[in-house]
Amino acid sequence: MNPLITLVVGARPNFMKIAPLMHAFAARAPDYELCLVHTGQHYDDAMSGAFFTQLGIPAADVHLGVGSGTHAEQVGRTMIKFEKVLRARRPTWVVVVGDVNATCACAITAKQEQVRLAHVEAGLRSFDWSMPEEVNRVVTDRLADFLFTPDAIADANLEKEGVAADRIHRVGNIMIDTLESQREAAAALDPSRIVADSLVAPRGKVELTDKGYALLTMHRPGNVDTAEVLAALVGYIVDELSGECPVVWPIHPRTQKNLEAAGLWERVVGSAQVLVTRPLDYRSMLRLNQGARVCLTDSGGLQEECCVLGTPCLTMRDNTERPITLVAHGGCSLLVGNDVGRIRAAMRDAGALSCTTSRPPLWDGQTANRIVDAFVEAG
Ligand code: UD1
Repeated sequence: MNPLITLVVGARPNFMKIAPLMHAFAARAPDYELCLVHTGQHYDDAMSGAFFTQLGIPAADVHLGVGSGTHAEQVGRTMIKFEKVLRARRPTWVVVVGDVNATCACAITAKQEQVRLAHVEAGLRSFDWSMPEEVNRVVTDRLADFLFTPDAIADANLEKEGVAADRIHRVGNIMIDTLESQREAAAALDPSRIVADSLVAPRGKVELTDKGYALLTMHRPGNVDTAEVLAALVGYIVDELSGECPVVWPIHPRTQKNLEAAGLWERVVGSAQVLVTRPLDYRSMLRLNQGARVCLTDSGGLQEECCVLGTPCLTMRDNTERPITLVAHGGCSLLVGNDVGRIRAAMRDAGALSCTTSRPPLWDGQTANRIVDAFVEAG
């Protein structure tokens, strides 16, 4: 019987990790049967559907329709529904990616159902237990039979936790597979058009030049769930940063909701130089990153993309599970937290950030092929 591989996606950062893997399975192991499960943690077209179309991901075979909720609600609903899928299909492997609630929920369910588990993007550690993603990462890695890691730092984290060396496969960063496959198509896009077409509030002509704008994203609970923190950041963005250059801000639904609840939304969208857009598709976001003077973000994926593109990245966090992207490791990212004084000072020096494109070993666009080869070897 051919192996049946069940692959799981749930939230936006999963889609660019699963796309190259599905393409590589189809090309290198065509006799493997694939079953794509979408938990539905992210469900809007802008957060989900657009990525399927653009990245050529086949329609999901199973939709769990889990939707929003607290961590326990999302994880609980996912486990109940995923258990039924596993009992009906009995796959050979379950493959989970990243660190979102869907990753952890399906990892636990797979092991409870005695299905072999593979984790792509294993070994990342922020050592910050206040982040839901850290809990998800540690639980998933503890359970996985195959741990596919992006770099040597991740290997070392796993070894320190006692993970047997034969379960760890260093394969590189699968996000970079997607970046490389979309890079040229992205470069052909016009940043002004991207932004003009997706603004949440209409305004006059948008004129952006390469290296002439800042790109901003934030969605982490630590930055957007507390009104005072959010108000201070908005004050800096609207009153100071946008005076230096236009700020393009693709807004995350969590952030928009919290800005509205804190009475800050009108101030943000009413600011002439702050260009708030709907969540963008992958290629548009890549194009904006290619042309940005600086990127301010709390997203792990953007940190990695900035590293490979050579965009100075001010990471609005106090720690990172991706230290390889930091300037200290030859990358482009500086940790600046969410304290405005610290961000202001870093922004002043951002021009001087020594940022050449930096490509850690195996971040070469071939990671998915290495993963599929490992499955084929394992039989
Ligand atoms: C999740 C992940 C985070 C990842 C991020 C990327 C966890 C714990 N967090 O955070 O690691 O970096 O996705 O986006 O898994 N919403 C919509 N439309 C959608 C999806 C969500 O409006 O399509 C709203 C939800 O109703 C909710 C909020 O956005 O109120 C947050 O969604 P949620 O999935 O809880 O977490 P994220 O902050 O997106």
